[in-house]
Amino acid sequence: MEDDPLTSSEPPLKRHPTLQPLSREHMSGLIQARNLQRAAAGDVRQRRAAVEAFARVWHTEIRSHFDDEERLLLPLTERPELRSRLLAEHGVLRELAEQCAREPEASASDETMMRRLGCLLHDHIRWEERVFFESIQRDHPEELAHLLHEADRIERLRPGARPRHTLGSRAGSGPEREKADEHGS
Ligand SMILES: [Fe+2]
Ligand SMILES: [Fe+2]
Repeated sequence: MEDDPLTSSEPPLKRHPTLQPLSREHMSGLIQARNLQRAAAGDVRQRRAAVEAFARVWHTEIRSHFDDEERLLLPLTERPELRSRLLAEHGVLRELAEQCAREPEASASDETMMRRLGCLLHDHIRWEERVFFESIQRDHPEELAHLLHEADRIERLRPGARPRHTLGSRAGSGPEREKADEHGS
């Protein structure tokens, strides 16, 4: 059975170590995508909460995640269909995300935009996991190995990129979490 990032707290078993922090961040991206889509059908309070939550994760995590994918992974592939899809989708998602951050009230009253953003983010992450990351690690394992220090940097900077084996029973809080945070400072 396929490893589903929404039900699994860890990246796919065969994910290259350099890609694992980015794969872990995909899980919180998928959660945001689902929240936006669900809240779009809800009342204004639910829509506002979903837009505000997304804008927070955008600033703390997803924005830098996109930058890292472009800086680290794009130079590894010359396949035009991969490069153009990644850049095009990042472009649209950046625009919609900045709109949410800049105009949360207006964004929360635009159900169509919320649904579109959630759907695009979901499909983008699924495509990266199934196609883009798979292709990069299959065709460029050695180049990826040289970027392992970048994976360490990402884990230090962004808590959502760190391994989560201590989170199962603690749901992201408590001593284990604090220990993980200390390692990042
Ligand atoms: Fe991406
Ligand atoms: Fe990604």
